[in-house]
Amino acid sequence: MGKLLKVNNLSIKFSQKRQDSVTILRDIEISLNPGKTLCVVGESGCGKTTLGRVLAGLLPYSSGTYHFLESEVSEMKGKDKIDFRKNVQLIHQNPYESLNPTSMVFDIIANPIRKHKGIKNTTKLYAEVTRLLENVGLTPVTDFVDKYPSHLSGGQRQRVSIARVLAMDPKFIVVDEATSMIDTSLRISLLKTLKDIQERTNISYFFITHDLALGRYFARDQEMMVMYLGKVIEKGNTEDFIHNPLHPYSKAILSAAAGNSGLLDEPSEFENYQLGGTEIPSFKNIPSGCPLHPRCPQKIEGLCEKLVPKLIEKSDGHSVACHLHDEQK
Ligand SMILES: Nc1ncnc2c1ncn2[C@@H]1O[C@H](COP(=O)(O)OP(=O)(O)OP(=O)(O)O)[C@@H](O)[C@H]1O
Ligand SMILES: [Mg+2]
Repeated sequence: MGKLLKVNNLSIKFSQKRQDSVTILRDIEISLNPGKTLCVVGESGCGKTTLGRVLAGLLPYSSGTYHFLESEVSEMKGKDKIDFRKNVQLIHQNPYESLNPTSMVFDIIANPIRKHKGIKNTTKLYAEVTRLLENVGLTPVTDFVDKYPSHLSGGQRQRVSIARVLAMDPKFIVVDEATSMIDTSLRISLLKTLKDIQERTNISYFFITHDLALGRYFARDQEMMVMYLGKVIEKGNTEDFIHNPLHPYSKAILSAAAGNSGLLDEPSEFENYQLGGTEIPSFKNIPSGCPLHPRCPQKIEGLCEKLVPKLIEKSDGHSVACHLHDEQK
């Protein structure tokens, strides 16, 4: 089967009034097949949401290419554009904002079905709404159809917003910190629902999270990538990445996460791996060479501050952008 999406050399600049433009995403390369998940991690402000919004077609990119089902997204017109908008959806952090407070659950889900599938008959609509609510675990459905968002808990609202997104029959969903406002106990259950939907429908996910343990759970046997200051610095199979991180930044975030989440099964060499300094460089002042070099404990003097490392594949599907791993496999 062909690629679902392919991004090459993509960058995004924001121009700010009375200030120079800032480049937020740089040289992004992504490819994703149908039915697969790519999880992205990285500290706050590194560009995860910006990338998610680009992939969801909500933000234009400044350079590079983005092909969805072989068509260049920035050139899509007419029916192709309508299909793209239907096929690509985003579930974001705050289900309070994404649901219309004055609509009942039935209408919240029935409206996109009316619009995209042209179903007008109420019996058929009810059957379809029922199927979608059951899909996201809101049962018995009769307890939910006539409720307003304010009657529901945060977890239930997020399930309604997922059902609404699924009403479009999308092929690809950007899931941006979608469980961060939900109680820990319900988080796994919601993610399991999304994974079950993937098994049934072959949907693909771009899963954005701060939480490495959650990312590991959601992207098990799939792919994980790490961003730092708008660049992808490591990418690989999730378990390979968790057990054998190559980039100093990846080692540091895994080390920080290992202590509090039981993320790693056994102690490892990078358990106490820490970056130097506390100041996170800003996009307005991106360090020369490797952007991590001012904080990197393994910096190679005379090289890392001068030359930007390329993302190089070290073993099957496991790539890293770091001068410590410069030679090709
Ligand atoms: N419209 C915009 N104009 C200018 N700068 C922006 C715009 N949108 C985002 N940014 C900047 O882009 C950078 C990346 O932001 P983004 O929200 O993508 O990060 P993130 O990795 O999702 O962070 P978090 O983990 O906190 O959600 C930030 O420095 C942010 O201020
Ligand atoms: Mg974000």
